[in-house]
Amino acid sequence: MDIQIAKSIAVALNNELTVSDIQNLLEKPRNSDLGDVAFPCFTLAKKLRISPHTIAVDIQNKLNCDFIQEVQVVGGYVNIFYHQPTITHQVLSQIVKEKNLYGTHQASKGNVVLDFSSPNIAKPFSMGHLRSTVIGNALANIAEKNGYQAIRINHLGDWGTQFGKLIVAYRKWGDQKTIEAAPIEELLKIYVKFHEEAEQDETLNEQARTAFKALEDGDEEALALWQWFRDASLEEFKTIYQLLGINFDSFAGEAFYNDKMAAVVQELEEKELLVQSEGANVVEIANMPPCLITKTDGATLYATRDLAAAFYRKQQYDPKKIFYVVGHEQSLHFTQLFNVIEKMGYDWAKDLQHVPFGMILKEGKKMSTRKGKIVLLADVLTEAIATAKRNIEEKNPNLVDKENVAHQVGVGAVIFNDLKTDRLHDIEFSIEHMMHFEGETGPYIQYTYARISSLLERANEHSDEVSLETLGEEAWPVVLLLEQFPKVIDNAFEQTDPSQIAKYALQLARLFNKYYAHNKVLVDDSQRTSRLAFCYCVAIVLKESLTLLGIAAPKNM
Ligand code: ARG
Repeated sequence: MDIQIAKSIAVALNNELTVSDIQNLLEKPRNSDLGDVAFPCFTLAKKLRISPHTIAVDIQNKLNCDFIQEVQVVGGYVNIFYHQPTITHQVLSQIVKEKNLYGTHQASKGNVVLDFSSPNIAKPFSMGHLRSTVIGNALANIAEKNGYQAIRINHLGDWGTQFGKLIVAYRKWGDQKTIEAAPIEELLKIYVKFHEEAEQDETLNEQARTAFKALEDGDEEALALWQWFRDASLEEFKTIYQLLGINFDSFAGEAFYNDKMAAVVQELEEKELLVQSEGANVVEIANMPPCLITKTDGATLYATRDLAAAFYRKQQYDPKKIFYVVGHEQSLHFTQLFNVIEKMGYDWAKDLQHVPFGMILKEGKKMSTRKGKIVLLADVLTEAIATAKRNIEEKNPNLVDKENVAHQVGVGAVIFNDLKTDRLHDIEFSIEHMMHFEGETGPYIQYTYARISSLLERANEHSDEVSLETLGEEAWPVVLLLEQFPKVIDNAFEQTDPSQIAKYALQLARLFNKYYAHNKVLVDDSQRTSRLAFCYCVAIVLKESLTLLGIAAPKNM
């Protein structure tokens, strides 16, 4: 709609401003007495040296199109009131026609790579990894909606000196059976033991270095152990991804780049970017610590593997963008990485973007450890699902498919709780709060969707015809919001911010429920069909919003 208004204003102004300039200036008035959209004339007044009011009156006289009901001038503002039947008809017809493709960019815009989740082998899947997983997946969905092909990569932490320690620890204290029963828990135990023992016995660290060297040199026994640790951990991670309903295109982790780093290091040498500093080879970067590339013994580091990964992805996928969804504590690492690539002379360094996020808090405190005990994500999800199950037993004991719905609601609550806040902010984690059917929760939106679904089912009528009429005072803000959906999708992608969709869905659910409280949809009168089409459209957009966030929308709950 904005664009149509902007075009009409551009014509009225004899193209004194471009359509997109006008679009950027358009404002949503604070209250509906001031119209549905307003155009401030102050910028133009300065340029033309005419009073804003004169310009506003001029626009008022010339504005003329069938979707405008009325134009008022207040000071330097042109306040525009839409012709509600026309807009309602236009918006609802489009949604009914396009269904879940409403707001989808059909043009194929190329690939985007999303590096997200990326937990570390033999370490618990932390709450930080949960955030990365949920935000990264939503961004991938949003990218697809925007016309990109999303490539979801899990950059597993499966290489590094810690594997030398793990191998030594296993040989000393490991037991195959116990580890097979609970791999990550047991591997963590022997890893922690290694550090405790290493404080007394200095030779342990030396042994670990030797073991890692053997691993890097391809020693078969060491490699077999590493492979086992990796497979067993990944299997555990995959149960979490399955619970969350998230898939990856690639699990190429750090180890995948072992044979791809030499070429990058050589290129850095040829370009004379490598310098020796405090026993390491580094690339110096203005105004920040240097980026460590290799140690003196030739061993590579986290940054070296990320460097090789960036080149590999560039060559393999030719992406328009690479997003790294990783906590903000790694900001320096990514700034260094992008700087090194730029220094090497590659202009695509500008297409790499770190997408940071805040922490998860419980009662205001960091959640990763609880009295030294790790909070296991799988346990958290299981608890959320059990709570959802109890709520269903209480509210709707006859529901068919209870297990499945409890799963969708429990997991949906955890995901929504994460995505409803600006990603840079820390988020509170309270299973009790996130499960409420009322309030800013996933279940609230799912419940609204289910209510509409059962309403449509009861109506037992379905028409794709939307007649030209107003649906009443409470419906109008909902129509305006539906009209905004495509714009919200664009913004969420451009600002890499899934919370815009979560907030949108909350508002849509709230405004719809307000409408529903005041209007009898199923009453048999001339507007029944239109009201049903309206409800159908709200259901489509609510469901699509949830889908983009990675949340299921059960029809009954
Ligand atoms: N495994 C790392 C960690 O847990 C995250 C990796 C993020 N991705 C990357 N390309 N560096 O901290």
